[in-house]
Amino acid sequence: MNISVIGSGYVGLVSGACFAELGNHVICVDNDKQKISGLKKGVIPIYEPGLQELIVSNLKNNRLKFTSNIKEAVKNSEVIFIAVGTPTLENGEADLTGIEDVARSIAQHIDGYRLIVEKSTVPVETCSWIKKTIATYIKKKQKFDVVSNPEFLREGSAIHDFNHPDRIVLGLETLRAKQIMTNLYQPLNRPILVTNIKSAELIKHASNAFLATKISFINAISRICDQVGADVREVAAGMGMDNRIGRYFLHAGLGYGGSCFPKDLDAFITIGEKLGYDFQILKAVRNTNQEQKAFVLKKIKDVLWIIQGKTIAVLGLSFKPNTDDLRNAPSIDLINALIQEGAKVRVYDPKAMEKAKKILKNVTFCKDKYQAASGADCLIIATEWNEFKELDFIKMKKKLKRALVIDGRNIYDPKLLTKMGFTYIGVGRGNE
Ligand code: UDX
Repeated sequence: MNISVIGSGYVGLVSGACFAELGNHVICVDNDKQKISGLKKGVIPIYEPGLQELIVSNLKNNRLKFTSNIKEAVKNSEVIFIAVGTPTLENGEADLTGIEDVARSIAQHIDGYRLIVEKSTVPVETCSWIKKTIATYIKKKQKFDVVSNPEFLREGSAIHDFNHPDRIVLGLETLRAKQIMTNLYQPLNRPILVTNIKSAELIKHASNAFLATKISFINAISRICDQVGADVREVAAGMGMDNRIGRYFLHAGLGYGGSCFPKDLDAFITIGEKLGYDFQILKAVRNTNQEQKAFVLKKIKDVLWIIQGKTIAVLGLSFKPNTDDLRNAPSIDLINALIQEGAKVRVYDPKAMEKAKKILKNVTFCKDKYQAASGADCLIIATEWNEFKELDFIKMKKKLKRALVIDGRNIYDPKLLTKMGFTYIGVGRGNE
């Protein structure tokens, strides 16, 4: 099929490259000309495992093209995906100006039937606005359909997630749209759920909000665990063995970050408010997530007593492993709070150092984890990268001034570290 994907951010780039890999001809569009000129040469603005290779090989076999010319994309594609950003406005609402702009451009250049597929995370009813906007600005009376096809891929495993989704959600209104979309996704051989458009839009919001709720729930349990001497990892394992609960998204830690959960939660709460519903559960989820960072900071203060003048090593900056994304990363708030209290902070991350240099001021950027630990009074794990799971603790102990580990992601065995002479403090591991 001839496809275009408008918006070359995370979702747009990954979807475009994966659709090309499936044998389609894909045009990826972005109004950032610098980004497009880089992408044409295979320069990828984000770190995502496997993405660079996929883009380069599909550029070579001419199945993938990059352009800033939306007209070219609309004229040459039967299916047009919208994957532009929907950042949060000050009032918590999603900013939909990018979506409206794209809808108007599509309307201007349509010269035959087109299927417009909304993939950005948007408030319910956005697709009906897209439909109205196109119908208003369209020049000739051409036929078109609008589909809601929310994307559930995670950063760090985006290509795998695109190719192996638990479900493909298609919110649509016509048989023609259903046939095109099912043909497009048929090579993935995954379950397809066809719903009405508004249900599809809500599935995305409800899923992300539910996952965030699971995380805040287990983080709240971690607080209780510390008080009573239970281990939250054991509690989560026991809960997760119940199929009705499931074992995923029950890792307690520094809280969730990233570009999706915080933004989507704000947007969903605002959608509720607009509809006259006070979404109290989600407000509590958001508060618990904020508190979790303060809770870990308090643990650090409780053990170090005075932060002023202490040297603190932080391993992991990205909001989760396998990405260089620092948006809403809990590490950033924690580091800034430590600096404010007068600490000298030494940091290391396997992939996010370049981006971190633009955000973090007054920290020492180190070339590896051991250099970061050198002379530090305390070692904090803020992101659970695999390379931190396999630390050489004998070497680490020699590097540190004080053998103290704050395990913000609960990746170590407290007994083992204690036996090796470390003071171990996890999140909800029973050592308040
Ligand atoms: C999320 C959704 O999972 C995805 O379906 C949606 O399309 C976009 O938002 P992403 O933000 O890339 O994906 O990462 P995810 O793996 O979901 O993690 C989000 C945050 O939750 C991270 O900060 C992670 O560290 C945290 N998390 C996750 C926990 O703290 N505990 C867990 O058990 C799981």
